[in-house]
Amino acid sequence: MMLIKTVEELKNVLFQINCGGKSVGFVPTMGALHEGHLSLMKRARKENQVTICSIFVNPTQFNNADDLKHYPRSLEKDIAFVQNYMDFIFAPSVEEVYAVPATEQYHFGDLETVMEGSARPSHFNGVAIIVKRLFDWIQPDRAYFGEKDFQQIAIIKSLVKQFNLPIQIVPCPIVRDENGLALSSRNMRLSETERQIAANIYRVLKESTAIKTKQVSAIQKFVADELAKFDIFHLEYYEIVNADTLHPIQNLDDAPSVVGCIAIYAGEVRLIDNIRYK
Ligand code: PAJ
Repeated sequence: MMLIKTVEELKNVLFQINCGGKSVGFVPTMGALHEGHLSLMKRARKENQVTICSIFVNPTQFNNADDLKHYPRSLEKDIAFVQNYMDFIFAPSVEEVYAVPATEQYHFGDLETVMEGSARPSHFNGVAIIVKRLFDWIQPDRAYFGEKDFQQIAIIKSLVKQFNLPIQIVPCPIVRDENGLALSSRNMRLSETERQIAANIYRVLKESTAIKTKQVSAIQKFVADELAKFDIFHLEYYEIVNADTLHPIQNLDDAPSVVGCIAIYAGEVRLIDNIRYK
């Protein structure tokens, strides 16, 4: 495993690899790595000759300065955690990534006006800025993204399409804690009690797929009512949408595949998760 800190170094290394015709699998992350990230890396390892991950807490995608300040950082631990799976770790500084100021403006139409797009203005532009820069520098054959960030995958797929990038986007399933809580770097900020209570998010989502109605408003009400029983929760949204277009629907029969996406505060910590209805 080799740790790379600069774009210059990265380009030199990748030039040799690309010239050798080897396939490159890329896993972008913001660090504080856990088994969810690792599942992407294992998949990349299996499907490519060379693997690279990035570890970079990207300031342009945080719309809340406090969230950026509290985002967990643990580079030393992260390196030890992934060294058996990654050939290269790219961990640049903010100055390195944003030597050219971030003035790019990306547009994703309807995809960016719902859910995380409306709850976190400018978030997806920041994600697109960093992912596009990383794609341009690394030029991977495949890039791996977790379905925990369901909307992010739709945004990245659109980015690749808009710029006609020769990169295959590989969505990977959500990895959960034994109690069902979706693994997230933000879980580190939960107390033990909060973590136990947070397991109810997935329990309630799962139960909502079994109730006998196809009426979206009734399912949303069920989820909101069940989660309101715990006073640490503050529900930001629970949207049930067409999984392909992310357009809101009224009835589960309105789309061929349907996903429910939640953003909820457990105390101070904002968590997201999602579940398929079909
Ligand atoms: P980060 O939150 O570190 O996540 C990196 C990747 O790991 C994302 O694709 C995310 O969906 C995936 N991931 C996180 N938790 C997961 C889980 N429990 N199961 C499966 N996959 C999981 O997402 C970002 O960083 C950033 O927005 C980034 C794309 C790196 C751009 O800065």
